[in-house]
Amino acid sequence: MWWNVLTCGFSWCNLDRMGHALSFLGTPAYGADYNPEQWDHAVWAEDLDLMRTAKVNLVSVGIFSWAHLEPRPGVLDFSWLDEVMDGLAGAGINANLANATASPPPWFSRLFPETLPILEDGSRVWPGSRQAYCPSSPIYLEHALGLTAAIAEHYAGHPALAMWHVNNEIGGHNARCYCDMSADAFRTWLKIRYGDLDDLNEAWGTSFWSQRCSEWDDVLPPRQTGTFHNPTQDLDFHRFSSDACLDIHRAERDVLRAITPTIPITTNFMVNAFKKDLDYASWAPEVDIVANDHYLNTADPEAYVELAFAADASRCLVEDTPWMVMEHSTSAMNWQPRNIAKQPGEMIRNSLQHVARGADGVMFFQWRASRAGAEKYHSGMVPHAGTDTKVWREVTELGAILERLDGMIGTSVTAEVALVFDWESWWALDERAHPSIDVTYRDRVQALYRSLWNAGITVDVVPPDRDLTPYSLVVIPSLYIANRDMAERFDRFVASGGSAIVTYLSGTVDENLHIYLGGYPGAFRHTLGIRVEEFFPLREGEQVTLDDDSTVDTWCELLHLEGATALASYVDGPLPGVPAVTEHHHGEGTAWYIATRLDQAATDALVRTALKTTRVKPPIPRVTAPPGLEATRRSGPEGSYLFLINHGDEPAYVRTRGRDLVADRDVTGTLSLKAGAVAIVQEEAD
Ligand code: GLA
Repeated sequence: MWWNVLTCGFSWCNLDRMGHALSFLGTPAYGADYNPEQWDHAVWAEDLDLMRTAKVNLVSVGIFSWAHLEPRPGVLDFSWLDEVMDGLAGAGINANLANATASPPPWFSRLFPETLPILEDGSRVWPGSRQAYCPSSPIYLEHALGLTAAIAEHYAGHPALAMWHVNNEIGGHNARCYCDMSADAFRTWLKIRYGDLDDLNEAWGTSFWSQRCSEWDDVLPPRQTGTFHNPTQDLDFHRFSSDACLDIHRAERDVLRAITPTIPITTNFMVNAFKKDLDYASWAPEVDIVANDHYLNTADPEAYVELAFAADASRCLVEDTPWMVMEHSTSAMNWQPRNIAKQPGEMIRNSLQHVARGADGVMFFQWRASRAGAEKYHSGMVPHAGTDTKVWREVTELGAILERLDGMIGTSVTAEVALVFDWESWWALDERAHPSIDVTYRDRVQALYRSLWNAGITVDVVPPDRDLTPYSLVVIPSLYIANRDMAERFDRFVASGGSAIVTYLSGTVDENLHIYLGGYPGAFRHTLGIRVEEFFPLREGEQVTLDDDSTVDTWCELLHLEGATALASYVDGPLPGVPAVTEHHHGEGTAWYIATRLDQAATDALVRTALKTTRVKPPIPRVTAPPGLEATRRSGPEGSYLFLINHGDEPAYVRTRGRDLVADRDVTGTLSLKAGAVAIVQEEAD
């Protein structure tokens, strides 16, 4: 091969399926989306120099390059990408090479307008943005697979090729397409799920509103209707749409795997506060490395708590698969209503927070902030203003820190508390025609996670089918859908000594959204020792007082005790005297139920109560930790690393011994950590 003549200090990657897919890097992955096709050649050499200065070891190349690689139908031009890949190899930088299928070029939409997605109201999306294709389009898939094979064959064996990046944020803008091709694919998917139409009619509850389907052709996607959709049709369309997008990943991955079987393959997920269309718990077993894109919700001044949640969720999507951040931002984004720039030190805190929670790499969108295009105001590793900048200084500082973490890859985070998180419940609970528009899935998820964060406790954010037995405390916020298996596993968990907290609307319906009869929350009622007779949502802004003097809002329930005891009851509002928070000793364990929307302080207090029944301890004693100090630990056979991230305004003092790999100095008793600073202490064994 022509590139065998290249010589470089380059680490060749082999995917050992039993080993760690990123271990070839030696240190955590560091880099960005690299889009040199946006720039003159003159810049390319400088890029490589700057990447070396910043200690970049991995870049994602070719993500939006279809129009450059196939400028006209069937005419392929790899010349520019060859130059980029050779340059990377020469500089010893690994390529996470994309198969370039993320956005079909304009000629594709011109030749195949039927591939453009159709919205719920029947209007067709125009080309001119990105991802303008229907996920169920066989024409899109045929061309995407052809391009994938051509790229894989061309670059197989190239010394820069270290990883494959399938597509990009599949379904980010086009997850739900309502066209006739999607309708056909939806029917095929439903036939596999239900077998025959009677079962579908039963699951969808079509006896209501005369919706019974007598032919498969009667079955449609939930296109725009006069009033509410059939809720189970809508949920199934979510499930189908996530699977249709996953099928694109699988098909493109399989082409890559057949041609380059030893190269690890990933695709970037969007586990964040903004995107809910894809059920990544079902995607994660299909990648060699879980790669997440995480952007802060900058409307939230304490967005680092949601960052921690997303990191814990990414780590736990699938067991025994490494994860990394594929994209986050060095500073401002361009797509939020107000794009808040990061404070000095914030980018490093964000990055190391992901590493603290198990990430084996932190990458950015993108290497060089663009001069043109829709994202020109999005920050990059190299800002518009150049290298005499806060961003560049922090980029090089972070690169130097990550290079010192050479023992980090493969170490793990251990948690004794699980928070159950479920995309299906997110889709279903947020449907219309529910008791209150003020009840949203993420609200209680974030509140309960926040309480655990405030208590300094490390949490696994797990899907509902995960084994609960390794945990001491399981937290179940608004898990609207619970199947019988989940209900039984939860009951066994508590009965055999576990502690659990459940919040309102959990376990209300089965996987078809049929309500469990006999009192809410049907799936968990027995374990919780309660029976809820009727929901009493509150008016907008209405508050109710509890007998512990706290106030609640949004939601109340007419609850009867059936074995549980009341910890707090309403003193006013629609249900004076009725229990609002309950505790139930069940078998060897204890389960608490929160029937109302507690404020954060009361939620924190209940979580502390539950934690007291366990032996769960934070990584450092809470008494020594000022508010805003985040502590987590990664450990492995070679030793352990204590991560301390000070998000607060006060200095923190922590007793520890070892070497701080951020400051690059020994710590011999008490580490003092300035406001905004981070320490990673490679701990000395006692
Ligand atoms: C996503 C995409 C990138 C870019 C960033 C901007 O994560 O994958 O191409 O658009 O958002 O935040």
